[in-house]
Amino acid sequence: MKGIILAGGLGRRLGQLTRITNKHLLPIYNRPMIYYPLQTLVNAGIKDIMIVTGGNNAGDFLRLLDNGREFGLKDINYAYQQGEKGIADALSLAEHFADGEKIVVVLGDNIIEKPIKKYLESFSSQSEGARILIKKVPDPQRFGVVKLKGRKIVSIKEKPRKPESNYIVTGIYMYDNRVFDIIRTLKPSKRGELEITDVNNAYLKRGQLYYNILDGFWSDCGLPETIYKATTFIRNKCLRQERRK
Ligand code: DAU
Repeated sequence: MKGIILAGGLGRRLGQLTRITNKHLLPIYNRPMIYYPLQTLVNAGIKDIMIVTGGNNAGDFLRLLDNGREFGLKDINYAYQQGEKGIADALSLAEHFADGEKIVVVLGDNIIEKPIKKYLESFSSQSEGARILIKKVPDPQRFGVVKLKGRKIVSIKEKPRKPESNYIVTGIYMYDNRVFDIIRTLKPSKRGELEITDVNNAYLKRGQLYYNILDGFWSDCGLPETIYKATTFIRNKCLRQERRK
């Protein structure tokens, strides 16, 4: 399975913080944000990784991560997204890299506490389709919201004004190679983006969307408040590790 980290976009909701640099290069406690999703994939045993980035600072990712030696990787693949046309648009740039294999996609601003290997194993034993990781949160209206009937997903709505549940789709997605054909059928949403929620709904319609509930701490880092929350979590974790030494 190949891994793809999506680190494009303009991070507009962070104001002055992203006027000069890319959101994923901002610090989360003692490391740049991009280190966390990269470490999550490496810990899950993924060795073939592509980072999709964009904007004016794409070269800084190369300077920071070079060939990934710090993570025990032989190399890192990079792709460049023009503009900010959505998560599914950024993913479409990885088609050549995926080369027919199954993929795991992680959003570059997602901080995940626990290993994701067990979910990737479930996905590996799936003959086709997609798998998402969902989580209960207090502020579902900021996310893709999952409506469940019993244990079945019945719909996913992107940032609904009146969420029908507290379960949301986290930024960890597993897809078979059909994902690229699905992306080709998408039309831009009202906010002018190719939405990953439309991709997940396409799998849902085919009866091929599976899920797990993600364990442990999870946060995106798209707002000053969530950067603070993730930083506090990582700081406490580092301090606990220090004390144990
Ligand atoms: O974090 C989980 C949520 O991420 C999901 O629940 C939502 O369904 C999904 O749409 C997404 O919501 P956000 O509005 O938080 O996504 P955002 O625009 O902040 O983008 C998240 C990451 O995706 C960003 O850190 C980098 C990547 N991205 C985003 C865009 C718009 C790209 O690589 N290119 C893009 O054009």
